[in-house]
Amino acid sequence: MLLAKSSAVFFGLAVTSVLANPTVTLSKTKVTYRGTTVGSVEHFQNIRFAHDTSGQRRFAPPEPYTPAEGTEVDATAPGAACPQSKAAIPPFFVETPNISEDCLTLRISRPAGTTAKDKLPVVVHLHGGGVVKGSAYDPHFDPDNLLALSVEIDKPIIHVALNYRLTIFGFARLPILKDQKSMNVGMRDQRVGYRWIKDNIAAFGGDPTRITSFGLSAGATFISLHLISYGGKKGVPFTQGWAMSGPPGTGFNMTSDVTELHTRAVGRQLGCPSNQDSELLQCLRQVPFEKLTETAMGYSVNNHPPAGLFTFIPSVDGDIIPDRQSVLYRSGKFVKGIPMVYGWAQDDGAGSTGPASLYQTEESIKKPVKDVAHTITEEDFEKLFSLYPVSDFEPDLAFYEARRQESDPVVPVHYFRAARILRDLMFTCSSIDFGYELSRQSRAINPQFPGTHLYTLNQSMLTPLFAGAGMPYIGATHGSDTNYLYKLFPEGPIAEADEKLSRAMGTSFINFAYRGSPEHKHKKKKKKNDAGLGDWPEAFATQGPGALNLMVIGGPHGTGSAHLTSHKHKTKGKKGDGREEAQVPILGEDMVVGEMANKIDRERKRELEREKLFERCAYINSLSEKLGN
Ligand SMILES: *[C@@H]1O[C@H](CO)[C@@H](O)[C@H](O)[C@H]1NC(C)=O
Ligand SMILES: *[C@@H]1O[C@H](CO)[C@@H](O)[C@H](O)[C@H]1NC(C)=O
Ligand SMILES: *[C@@H]1O[C@H](CO)[C@@H](O)[C@H](O)[C@H]1NC(C)=O
Repeated sequence: MLLAKSSAVFFGLAVTSVLANPTVTLSKTKVTYRGTTVGSVEHFQNIRFAHDTSGQRRFAPPEPYTPAEGTEVDATAPGAACPQSKAAIPPFFVETPNISEDCLTLRISRPAGTTAKDKLPVVVHLHGGGVVKGSAYDPHFDPDNLLALSVEIDKPIIHVALNYRLTIFGFARLPILKDQKSMNVGMRDQRVGYRWIKDNIAAFGGDPTRITSFGLSAGATFISLHLISYGGKKGVPFTQGWAMSGPPGTGFNMTSDVTELHTRAVGRQLGCPSNQDSELLQCLRQVPFEKLTETAMGYSVNNHPPAGLFTFIPSVDGDIIPDRQSVLYRSGKFVKGIPMVYGWAQDDGAGSTGPASLYQTEESIKKPVKDVAHTITEEDFEKLFSLYPVSDFEPDLAFYEARRQESDPVVPVHYFRAARILRDLMFTCSSIDFGYELSRQSRAINPQFPGTHLYTLNQSMLTPLFAGAGMPYIGATHGSDTNYLYKLFPEGPIAEADEKLSRAMGTSFINFAYRGSPEHKHKKKKKKNDAGLGDWPEAFATQGPGALNLMVIGGPHGTGSAHLTSHKHKTKGKKGDGREEAQVPILGEDMVVGEMANKIDRERKRELEREKLFERCAYINSLSEKLGN
């Protein structure tokens, strides 16, 4: 599969790819990394940044690793993935045949011919996968297409991806581990990895002052958690972030001690002694890693079918995570001045609903909501249902009905309500809340802060897959964003509209890597093809919580930003700041102008206003304490 995808690039440059074995030498230690060239990209893989985590290092914080001076490191082949189930999770993750506890490695890819003088912006991918799946070497995240785009638009970047410990290996919880500052070690791995990048990327041609951390789902949530880690006291080893469908409070309970119960339950299943935690820990360290992986994953799948996602998760440890995230960011205890892009997918909640046929009544909405927030009371539900009344979702139903084929399922209106409630609860509202605090508090220190940019993705290459599986009612769903950046799955030909969107989104992403803002600035000497998604104003450019700019990416109403205001603040935008009206959408080279554009802008804005983001999120964000995030 991979071969087919890359053969076109590979073909023309087959000669150089055989000849060139690029090397990079670190100036201080004279350690040399020998990589490979494939097509027009140089890859350095399996670069170890921390020691093997087996034996006594299991469940312990990572220990940074530096090869002996003058070593020549073979960086020509992928490293192992951290322990996880080997099976694929289609369509998102391929099989992971090679797992090992010696997995704290990273990979670096750069345009061929990059030298240390180039100082290119660096983008660092933190994979998602519900803290049970993924690795830096998953071919779904091969950066070749993204790097090719960056070269084509004359803004080359360097791509890095890193591994971190998953499941019980990364997120075991016991009081004894807490005492030893050994909780959330998966996050500590990420920090050590970032630190390595910051310290060494210059030798590879990267600019350590422009490091964009990006990821989807759990990968994105970790980025936000790094911003609040240590209450912001220790900074972060990256300079900006792009978080896709993974806000800081993604519906998991950070204060929960259930992770401890899970840890003990796995110990019991393995026959470990349970009287003394020190003995339990020692036993858990002695179990062969294959056995521990299998037991922890079997347990997780039971706990949260079908894939066992989010069973061993980050939680408050009084150290790297000193408190619940919303407590920290609302009280200013986070790293300020880090420009962020937060995005969600329009139908992000569909990943947690199950089939539409389950939603014949309002009552049925309660179950999936309780699954992410079991402390929600009947009173809360009453309020929630009144904020998401049936009448608000009749247009969604009508839209679906108008396109429904005879063989397509009938969808009850409560399904659309459930999907939207879950989206807002897990993704949208926390993104807005944190984004607002980040902008507001950072700007108080530095008025020039480029701020937070928000988007909602309303187009997906996965839609045909869901339609084919009997779920044509699913729109742009969780996990759709990375397809546009990497353009590697699903397999097969890419529709023209997706091809265009991929290019535009990739360009905005690269612009962000360069300048800390995805906004395209109209320059006098306009460079070809660098408009990306077009004008993308900062989300909270007009002060106050009652207004925001939201970028819609793709979908039937096209790409463009809309300025939204809460009812209370409907009165006026500042005259002449250009923010009071929706922006003209620009997609690739096709510029839509005049009346047509205004009409599309108005439609898009009207659609967004139907989502009542201010009212609904004000309520949802008031539930943080109850939700534990
Ligand atoms: C797994 O990866 C490691 C690290 O690159 C490598 O040494 C080993 O040969 C690989 N094993 C298999 C079975 O591919
Ligand atoms: C979060 O965890 C705490 C402590 O275990 C518990 O009291 C609370 O009910 C949990 N909340 C949710 C929403 O699960
Ligand atoms: C998103 O797409 C759906 C169709 O899939 C459409 O009904 C809706 O209006 C779009 N929303 C926005 C904000 O563009």
